[in-house]
Amino acid sequence: MSSTTDDRQPRYHDPLPEELPFPDNNLFLKEHFAFGHPLLPARDAWRFRDRWSEAFGREAPLLVEIGSGNGFFLAELALRNPDFNVIGIEIRYKRIVRCAKKIQAAGAKNALAIRYDATFLDDLFTSNSVFGLYVNHPDPWPKARHEKNRMVSRWFLEQSADFLQDGGHLRIKSDYHDNVTRVAGLLDMGPNGEPLPALPFTITGQTTDLDTDGAPWPDDIKTYYQKKMTAQGLTIAAIELIRGARGA
Ligand SMILES: C[S@@+](CC[C@H](N)C(=O)[O-])C[C@H]1O[C@@H](n2cnc3c(N)ncnc32)[C@H](O)[C@@H]1O
Repeated sequence: MSSTTDDRQPRYHDPLPEELPFPDNNLFLKEHFAFGHPLLPARDAWRFRDRWSEAFGREAPLLVEIGSGNGFFLAELALRNPDFNVIGIEIRYKRIVRCAKKIQAAGAKNALAIRYDATFLDDLFTSNSVFGLYVNHPDPWPKARHEKNRMVSRWFLEQSADFLQDGGHLRIKSDYHDNVTRVAGLLDMGPNGEPLPALPFTITGQTTDLDTDGAPWPDDIKTYYQKKMTAQGLTIAAIELIRGARGA
């Protein structure tokens, strides 16, 4: 796999083991650097920002999952969508290694596991370059003072509107319902209700009980957390947005 650089530098700094005070405390840090295909460490991944087709060895529309965890959903998404290039982004070393192993075990040739901080998604994608975005059970960050840590936020929706191609989708699932129910408001407001320009999304389906109502999209793939939370008796909320119309 070859990579090329341009003048742009990434916003996310991926520390080398020698830059960390106790690099041996996390066995997966070194393993993730040594793993090789299909795992891309952050320091390699951003170089493909405008040329993902080179990383995959073929041109195909992109599907991107954010916070892939152990990769169960990602591997299945890749298998069910052989005509797409599929990327999973996960920040934790152990989980990205597991994710890469899951891709290998599934035999999914069209998937890559990328260790990256999704706060800096614009290091990885250009405008109008992604067909589908998936956020499954993002960390809740319920306290108001942690609002800036939430993945489902105004900045994330703005970035999604930028990366997604017209007609492309953003799908969010969560047992923490606020991650889903806050989305509609954030399309034309900030987190404190301040009016903001309308984002070019149409909500095509929404539920607060995916198991009873069905998912707002065909062919739902249950994630590891989804199964775990359902087993605990929690209901799963979900929303689908299509890029286009509103505010466009
Ligand atoms: C609650 S888990 C859900 C995992 C998986 N999506 C599922 O549904 O089974 C949230 C995942 O998001 C990852 N995550 C949290 N913040 C992240 C960030 N800024 N960038 C990338 N991954 C992140 C966590 O490490 C964790 O694996």
